[in-house]
Amino acid sequence: MLTVNVKGCESFIETSVQNEFISKAQSALETLNRGTGAGNDFLGWNKLPSELPQSIVDDCLSVVDKWVEKEIDLVVAIGIGGSYLGAKAVIEALSHAFTNQMGESRGPKIVFAGQNLSEEYIAELMDLISVQNVAAIVISKSGTTTEPAVAFRLIRSYIEKTYGAVDARERIVAITDKKRGALKSLADQEGYRTFVIEDNIGGRFSVLTPVGLLPVAVAGFDIKVLLKGARDMEAICNKHDASNPAIQYAAMRNALYAAGKKIELLVGFNPKLQYVGEWWKQLYGESEGKNGKGIFPAAVNFTTDLHSMGQYIQDGERTLFETVIHVVNSKRSVVIDADPQNLDGLNFLAGKHVELCNEMAQLGTKLAHVDGGVPNIEISIDQIDEYNIGQLLYFFEKACGISAYVLGVNPFDQPGVEAYKKNMFALLDKPGYEELSKELKKKL
Ligand code: PA5
Repeated sequence: MLTVNVKGCESFIETSVQNEFISKAQSALETLNRGTGAGNDFLGWNKLPSELPQSIVDDCLSVVDKWVEKEIDLVVAIGIGGSYLGAKAVIEALSHAFTNQMGESRGPKIVFAGQNLSEEYIAELMDLISVQNVAAIVISKSGTTTEPAVAFRLIRSYIEKTYGAVDARERIVAITDKKRGALKSLADQEGYRTFVIEDNIGGRFSVLTPVGLLPVAVAGFDIKVLLKGARDMEAICNKHDASNPAIQYAAMRNALYAAGKKIELLVGFNPKLQYVGEWWKQLYGESEGKNGKGIFPAAVNFTTDLHSMGQYIQDGERTLFETVIHVVNSKRSVVIDADPQNLDGLNFLAGKHVELCNEMAQLGTKLAHVDGGVPNIEISIDQIDEYNIGQLLYFFEKACGISAYVLGVNPFDQPGVEAYKKNMFALLDKPGYEELSKELKKKL
């Protein structure tokens, strides 16, 4: 079961202060669960694991069956932000590290599009899809986001030209809002199978809806077990006492922020967790970074980044704290050999597991960084599998809602994301943006 250990913060935060923030987090949990806080029309994610209709899981699995029957070998998942990062994080965490090079995977390969506007990326993706049997999942809650809309126009056109309009209907699934947006009208008109993102679930809290579940199921992973993990964590995260890990985490990160620790580094010691870090950055950055406030979320992969960021973390400006995802068990076993010549001097490791070295690196890093003035929160999960990743996702969502209320911001809006979009539309001469276009062009 997921646990939180804040011992590595003891020398930075007095017990009385910690307790004060625990009480604030308890009140914030109450506000969240009662639905009386800011953004309370976006709380659909809160009870999602326990209340998700079975029919949604069944519908996801029926898409999987259909595509297996059609021998689809590549699925393009098109989306950005909350319509991309959750699926990417789960699939990366659960996949074999060399799945692409080994040429085998549990389901069709999943590639992503619409998460950037690079012409080279999309051209190279078109090279790939031209030699595969392809399907696509297009995900956009608003149905109007430019990046996925551009990618979808190109991929849809390819699928229709290659397989014909009738077959295209069996190869394209849309996940979008119930009523609004260009994607909804397009999906209705073309007769694409459609999944709905409920109005009360924001993008970055949507990983446990079809937005995350469908690509994960298509990739061959067990979404029922993922949801079971999330459901068990939902029950734990609703406890009002200080044993609730979401309360512990939300309280400590706010106590650290109040003590001047403005930057949180999410640390993984397994490269499979890299995109969990990316998903977490969006969840916390978009939820908390507003009104001139908020912890800046960053993510690193150790030990890799100890050889690039280690110096700064140990010795740079003392505004950081670390949250380490500690994976207790490795699912694979590799033991280091004895070497009769011992030319590399590593015989002291003979007979030991590589993961033991990773564990000791983790402990050594914690001791060094805490000594260097970097507080350490540790989140432990048993292993990287569907159940534990389900727990981790829900835990981070719940803690995020609580934490943002402790901070005093609305976790469920993102007004700051609009500014670049307006400028981009104006610079691309979108009708309706003529005045802004003139204004901006003067500044360039
Ligand atoms: O969390 C959010 O709301 C955002 O990151 C959105 O997910 C992102 O902007 C994509 O939006 P949409 O799904 O409407 O295309």
